[in-house]
Amino acid sequence: MRTDREPATAGRAIQVEGLHKSFGALEVLKGIDFSVERGEVVCVIGPSGSGKSTLLRCVNLLEEPTAGRVTVAGTEVTDPDVDIDRVRRRIGMVFQSFNLFPHLTVLENLTIAQRRVLRRDRAAAERTARANLARVGLSDKETAYPAQLSGGQQQRVAIARALSMEPELMLFDEPTSALDPELVGDVLAVMRSLAQDGMTMLVVTHEMSFAREVADRVVFMDGGVIVEEGPPERVVADPQHERTRTFLARVLDPAAAGLSEVPQAGARGPEEERPEP
Ligand SMILES: Nc1ncnc2c1ncn2[C@@H]1O[C@H](COP(=O)(O)OP(=O)(O)OP(=O)(O)O)[C@@H](O)[C@H]1O
Ligand SMILES: [Mg+2]
Repeated sequence: MRTDREPATAGRAIQVEGLHKSFGALEVLKGIDFSVERGEVVCVIGPSGSGKSTLLRCVNLLEEPTAGRVTVAGTEVTDPDVDIDRVRRRIGMVFQSFNLFPHLTVLENLTIAQRRVLRRDRAAAERTARANLARVGLSDKETAYPAQLSGGQQQRVAIARALSMEPELMLFDEPTSALDPELVGDVLAVMRSLAQDGMTMLVVTHEMSFAREVADRVVFMDGGVIVEEGPPERVVADPQHERTRTFLARVLDPAAAGLSEVPQAGARGPEEERPEP
């Protein structure tokens, strides 16, 4: 039931063209071109400070691009006349920090935006909320408060909250990197099942096993540009650029590289994380 204009890019979930973003004198995105098709899962990887979060934030205009064009589900969000609230309603966003309301129960956290933004009545909002709590495996937690849940459970609530708005696509910014290793798997399992259900997903992550198993495409960013992109079996397992190889060596085996600032993937050991030879 779409009423927005639908230009030639309407089949695409996200189209980014010539995107530049500067903060003062610091140029963070230096000309990004990429797109995400409907139903596609794209993982963005790259070193700290390479501009991954800024790219995601430009997609839903949490950051205003300095130059370039961003189109989401056929609507140009960089058009000065765009109704950005309307576009954002179609985009689910999940951050590293869960941003749940601490004074509201899980069920209330899931219904508040449905009622205020989508104007659903309580019964309809609760129906949708319960269906999405079931989807993330937390039906038994609807009366709990966020502080009574583990980090992994809170992140699954945050995902269920985003899903309750029935978004056309989901953006994830390192959704598991604040979690204890033993809690990462449950969140990734939820994301994997979303991908299997055909959700369009753009995911910034350090979880290389997730990227390899679930992503249709992996985008490697460094220094504000896309260095290479392609199917995970090429970019992760057989990178073409030295910068990609250096980054992957650090993420996949930080101990061997003598570095520890990059979070290690889940509870798995580095052995399992190495690309196939
Ligand atoms: N609001 C802001 N004001 C000024 N500089 C910013 C702002 N947001 C980001 N930056 C800078 O832009 C650069 C890219 O930041 P960004 O958060 O996009 O990187 P990232 O790839 O997501 O890194 P990480 O892996 O650490 O999350 C960094 O140098 C950062 O300090
Ligand atoms: Mg970031």
